[in-house]
Amino acid sequence: MEWTVVLISLLIAYLIITFLFHIFFPEHHLDWQSINLDDITFPNEFTWGVATASHQIEGGNSNNWTQFEERENKERSGLACNHWNLWQKDHELLTELGVSSYRFSIEWSRIEPNEGEWNEEAILVYSDMIDSLIAKGIEPMVTLHHFSHPIWFEEKGGFYNQENLIHFKNYCTKIFPYFSDRVTKWCTVNEPDVFSIMGYHMGMFPPGKRSPLKAIRVMKNVMIAHGEVYHELKQLSPNSYIGLAKNVTIFDPYRRWNLLHWLTTFALNYIWNGAIISSLKRGRMYGKSVKHVKGSADFIGLNYYTHVLTSPFLPQTTEIDLPSRKHEIVTEFGYPMYAEGLQRATKWLSKLKLPIEITENGVSDGEDKLRPNHLKRHLWMISKLIKEGVDIRSYYHWSLMDNFEWAEGYSMRFGLYHVDYETQTRTIRDSGKTYQSIIKSQKSG
Ligand code: GAL
Repeated sequence: MEWTVVLISLLIAYLIITFLFHIFFPEHHLDWQSINLDDITFPNEFTWGVATASHQIEGGNSNNWTQFEERENKERSGLACNHWNLWQKDHELLTELGVSSYRFSIEWSRIEPNEGEWNEEAILVYSDMIDSLIAKGIEPMVTLHHFSHPIWFEEKGGFYNQENLIHFKNYCTKIFPYFSDRVTKWCTVNEPDVFSIMGYHMGMFPPGKRSPLKAIRVMKNVMIAHGEVYHELKQLSPNSYIGLAKNVTIFDPYRRWNLLHWLTTFALNYIWNGAIISSLKRGRMYGKSVKHVKGSADFIGLNYYTHVLTSPFLPQTTEIDLPSRKHEIVTEFGYPMYAEGLQRATKWLSKLKLPIEITENGVSDGEDKLRPNHLKRHLWMISKLIKEGVDIRSYYHWSLMDNFEWAEGYSMRFGLYHVDYETQTRTIRDSGKTYQSIIKSQKSG
């Protein structure tokens, strides 16, 4: 008899808890058919951009990635878009699109191929790139570390060992003064979350490790590196505008009545998003204090792609289709298109009380069937959020052109321009034209 009472009470408690979660943590979905996606307005000072990263476009690199590609017998990045030789032409594409800013990254392995050996020629090439952008009226946004670094750094244990952070600091403080007279906007690191989890837990990025504890340690060290670099660079040039690009992936429970799904969701949202936000806001991460990180950003960069429906059976690879809601459109990468998530992503980041720069958003879509709509839905959401008072200053579409998509190699095509890798021809896609005309009308409106 007593057992029956206990069981019934437990059941009632379970139902009440899941019901409260359901109410307090809603998963918004819009009826997109009833929305006029052309109904957007952006402030005059809004920045329109596109983004790329060195290892994905330059070609001819020799870094932790090329080493990993060979060791794991993965598709080789090889010549990529041969941007190292074709960058002048690629800058013309930026003008054709009409963007006002371009986010790209500097390849540390080119600048410091061996420890303490600086390659002035490579520095000059980046300097020429910056001059070329400015001459075209395009503001550079420079990322200092976008997943790739020199082999010597990797072999010392990379960001896994805290004593190695000094090398990253040296590289940043070495090159910053070359460009800080012309570049104001800087991202120290790209996606500490993706970098550490893919490299140290999922084993899909170098160094290919599979340990959640290692991933957490690397994420912490990357944030410490960010914090230290931020303060050093601000001392060198107080007017610089320095932040980092944070990937916000939203984890939602696959079954909204299943408490285990909720608990997994809470844990993942903390590990992936909450811990980094907390390090910047409170200087604490995973229960420990992280030195110099609190307040170490003038803006927060948001890389937004999707939400992930979660259960305790977590996929250990990205090479599968993730679950999606029935009405959702699944993209080529296997995750759903979920522009609605920008609302929660920006709400979380707003806790930092910093301007938000959307440093990446885009979709892999070789046929360009989805991208025009994907772009318009996300821009519609951003326009709405700005009207509601969210401080979003820019939008950088990922990506200018098709490129080497890390673990997925050349199979994924994210470009507003199609790249024929045989001939290195770039051809604007319909989505590129859509973006071009949105920028034009918003700039003149
Ligand atoms: C991001 C990454 C980019 C690009 C993009 C598309 O996580 O920063 O370099 O690969 O994903 O998947």
